[in-house]
Amino acid sequence: EDESLMVKRPPVVCVMGHVDHGKTSLLDAIRETSVTSREAGGITQHIGAYVTEINGEKITFLDTPGHEAFTSMRMRGAQSTDIAILVVAADDGVMPQTIEAISHAKAAGVEIIVAVNKIDKPSANIERVKQELTEHGLIAEDWGGDTVFVPVSAHTKEGIDQLLEMIILTAEVLELKANPNRKARGVVIEAQLDKGRGPVATVLVQKGTLHVGDNIAVGAAYGKIRAMMDDQGKRVKTALPSTPVEILGLHDVPDAGEIFMATDSDKEARNIAEVYIEQGREKLLDDTKSKLTLDGLF
Ligand code: GTP
Ligand code: NA
Ligand code: MG
Repeated sequence: EDESLMVKRPPVVCVMGHVDHGKTSLLDAIRETSVTSREAGGITQHIGAYVTEINGEKITFLDTPGHEAFTSMRMRGAQSTDIAILVVAADDGVMPQTIEAISHAKAAGVEIIVAVNKIDKPSANIERVKQELTEHGLIAEDWGGDTVFVPVSAHTKEGIDQLLEMIILTAEVLELKANPNRKARGVVIEAQLDKGRGPVATVLVQKGTLHVGDNIAVGAAYGKIRAMMDDQGKRVKTALPSTPVEILGLHDVPDAGEIFMATDSDKEARNIAEVYIEQGREKLLDDTKSKLTLDGLF
């Protein structure tokens, strides 16, 4: 894609790690820190993703457990995340799912930042975590490597600001960019059928700008966007790259991890869905790939 059309976009971050090491607590701690610092305060509507801000820089967090997000999205050829936060409890150390998470993140080619969590515990041992992770190729900077380790406590909130700063620094090094002036493309984070509102999908815009009124195709589903809500539940008219939004107006519930694309017309969106249903996803991807590679969709 034409480099001159690309502009900086926020990093998309997911949290991975062993069971009970504090992934959910850490996401909550980050969210609370940012919610309370917002003027409105208010209740954050859960859409499976949220955007936080530090020093004027945005970060998008996916709530989905990292490995699930990776596997479902990678199966579909979509890359959703830029940075993985590997949460390791400072008292437990490296456990089987820690190692699994590392291999998922490496296979997906995402940058890993280690959050050594639960440092408020008397039995916490940060150096032991660093030592154990060297065996898995993650070597801390003070151990002569280049992996960023941030000691944190989701309970006391110690280290949360440093973690956010390290995410911003890492994102700067990655030079994350996207062209906002094109038809939108992205992935489905989650979707369900809502009794009153019909099919509801939370999508992450990766390229282009998504608008209310856009026709979109997403796997076997298609539709015209009737309304969009941001992570605060606020109605929005547009969504830029790296923005998660909830969308209404699809005729069907798409699968999580599915790729969506805005189309020129209702007919084009319907055709893409029909090819998907009749001939399967592989065929659709072959067709759309050849047709849309030039457009930078794949
Ligand atoms: P799963 O989603 O089940 O894999 O767990 P998780 O990784 O999301 O961990 P969760 O946030 O549910 O935390 C597990 C337990 O650890 C809970 O009892 C938390 O209260 C506790 N915990 C999480 N973070 C901290 C921390 O920083 N300090 C202490 N002392 N406890 C913590
Ligand atoms: Na848990
Ligand atoms: Mg959890």
